[in-house]
Amino acid sequence: MLKKYLIAPGPTPVPEKVLLEMAKPVIHHRTDEFSATFQKVSEGLKKVFNTSQDVLMLAGSGTAAMEAAVINTLNPGDSVLVVNAGKFGQRWRDICKTFGINYSTIDLEWGQSVKPEQVEDYLIAHPEIKAVLLQGSETSTTAYHPVKEIAEIIKHKSDTLFIVDGITSIGVHETLFDEWGIDIAVTGSQKAFMLPPGLSFIALSDKAWKFVEKSTIPRYYLDLRKEKKSQANATTAYTAPLTLINGLAVVLDMFEEEGLSNVYRRHEANANATRAACKALGFKPLADVPSNAATGFYVPEGVEGGKFVKFMRENVGITYAGGQDHLKGKIVRVSHLGYHDAFDTITAISGLEMGFRKFGADITLGAGVAAAEEILIDYIG
Ligand SMILES: Cc1ncc(COP(=O)(O)O)c(C=O)c1O
Repeated sequence: MLKKYLIAPGPTPVPEKVLLEMAKPVIHHRTDEFSATFQKVSEGLKKVFNTSQDVLMLAGSGTAAMEAAVINTLNPGDSVLVVNAGKFGQRWRDICKTFGINYSTIDLEWGQSVKPEQVEDYLIAHPEIKAVLLQGSETSTTAYHPVKEIAEIIKHKSDTLFIVDGITSIGVHETLFDEWGIDIAVTGSQKAFMLPPGLSFIALSDKAWKFVEKSTIPRYYLDLRKEKKSQANATTAYTAPLTLINGLAVVLDMFEEEGLSNVYRRHEANANATRAACKALGFKPLADVPSNAATGFYVPEGVEGGKFVKFMRENVGITYAGGQDHLKGKIVRVSHLGYHDAFDTITAISGLEMGFRKFGADITLGAGVAAAEEILIDYIG
């Protein structure tokens, strides 16, 4: 028997309640029954984003919402600033490049977080910048960026948007869209939202909607003007991903029941416990300012990370994530996202201990688990 544990930063496990909801027969989407669910879900999403703006739902993974953010607000030839600190910073850059937008980058070593002053200095020197694009949490490096502080720098600039990829930060770290002054935030279903992939969310500030009026990039399916109009009437412009939206209604009830502050606290406790375990086991962390979505660390000397991750997935049943690009084979990332509690963390750490020992590393079995338990004991019960 091989019991499966999904401990990678997306897709993440889906709770039984949500799976059962999604197993129900599909209904028609232009019905009062679906509109009632849609309305309920729209209200719930506003609470997670902390906004009075509509949070639009798009059928497509997180990248669809990232692309929608760019093509609905910018114009070819506009200058933008991308914080390039990992795989997903590169994605902002690549989307901008595709649509003829002039991007400059703040290039950081993978694992580093941008400093607000770096963005501020750049904007002072380049007042023509129309948007700053950032990840809240850069999943490829497990680093958290200072979203609130950067929003503070941009919010009073009427000609510059702050666009945040919150795909692994919304629902993990409290994100106050309105209060902080974020202009666009996007996220996806398969991370903290505990759903299968295929649904993404996007919110725009009043300032961003003004940019939409002036944007000329051709768009059809991802035209947010059409979605805004339809979604104000509790439906989507095209056939809605009903099954995922029905599942989302249950997820939002679960958030409500747990309390969003406890959702953040749970992520923090599991992240802290994993970091303490890594320290006790002598693993070097990757991120200077770690996100609570996942913890990345360098594999012990002599271990080939890619082989380790494959072995654990195929022979032990635990799916961790490895490294991407130049970090391939060098790091392991352990998720804390979504439907993940203290004993998932213990499983993850115990798996690391036994797995690395099997791969020849000098590991004191139980050292990481003990360190994690010292933190988690205050959190359980
Ligand atoms: C921070 C971040 N941005 C963007 C993406 C891409 O999202 P998707 O794969 O849902 O298109 C991911 C997925 O892992 C992510 O973690």
